[in-house]
Amino acid sequence: MRRGILVFLITTIVVLGFAVHHVWTLLELLVVDGKEDAILRAELPAPNSGAISERPQLIPKIIHQTYINESVPEHWKGPQQSCIDMHPDYEYKLWTDKKSREFIAAEYPWFLETFDGYPYPIQRADAIRYFVLHHFGGIYIDLDDGCNRSLDPLLAYPAWVRKTSPTGISNDAMGSVPRHKFFLNAIDRLPDYNRRWPLPYITVMASTGPLYLSVIWRHYNKANPVGADRVRILFPAEYNNHSWSFFTHHLGNSWHNNDVKLIFWMASHWMVLTVVGFTVGLALLWCIYSTFVVGRQANNSRSKYAYSRIPFYRRVSSKDIELNDRHQV
Ligand SMILES: *[C@@H]1O[C@H](CO)[C@@H](O)[C@H](O)[C@H]1NC(C)=O
Repeated sequence: MRRGILVFLITTIVVLGFAVHHVWTLLELLVVDGKEDAILRAELPAPNSGAISERPQLIPKIIHQTYINESVPEHWKGPQQSCIDMHPDYEYKLWTDKKSREFIAAEYPWFLETFDGYPYPIQRADAIRYFVLHHFGGIYIDLDDGCNRSLDPLLAYPAWVRKTSPTGISNDAMGSVPRHKFFLNAIDRLPDYNRRWPLPYITVMASTGPLYLSVIWRHYNKANPVGADRVRILFPAEYNNHSWSFFTHHLGNSWHNNDVKLIFWMASHWMVLTVVGFTVGLALLWCIYSTFVVGRQANNSRSKYAYSRIPFYRRVSSKDIELNDRHQV
């Protein structure tokens, strides 16, 4: 029996090691805060300071936004106009569904099949912003973000994104020079991450959305530990809520569904859920182990066909598999 426990522990460690290895980047995102790349408020000139014009302007003066068509809904016209009015010397590009598809077909034809195949329109809206930043450079702003001051100071960083809570980065306001390596990675890996998960929200987050970009960001930072290529991070105080912040946030998240409530609840209880998950996992492993190994040892003297006693084996019917498949459509 003592040998049995040893085998059980080793199996558990191997299984856990495998699981942890698989989600390592996600676990890292829970603790990595991006502070070492923060755009410090002290390095930003005040909203109307003359010091702004002394800064290098690396990012081209282009504002990118996306919507289905040219008819931007009434509640987003205010924020949209605030950005246009505050930047008369910037080019303004609204990427409608039609323009986005034409642009991908013309400039990144290798991506068109993936682009067309996305089940949710928001995935195309996510993807197109990485491509236009890679191609033209400029600043992408979600339609639910209005401008609170000139974006000129942010043109001084080759690439920047916004920190989000509780973890990772967001893709609702980002800036870049054309062909920055980070956005090159962001477009290059999209087809690999084009997977479907049981909940639409997770599918969108992990295939094209903020979670996808956060994972790319982690990988990119590991490959580029120092130097001017680092992606700079705009923290909440500089993003909105203060007089010196760059943006104002308006109502939005137009694509959120019912499963979002579940996810947000899970995000705020992740510690409890992790403990419960590990406990249930260990209990399950113990059940399998005791049925499979201990049961078999006890039976060995009597029967050579102890495998038929494994209860889990019988339960996997073709019906279960069919249901799983259908769930993913
Ligand atoms: C734009 O899209 C919206 C939402 O789908 C639709 O209601 C509206 O009629 C469209 N406008 C034009 C000009 O096609």
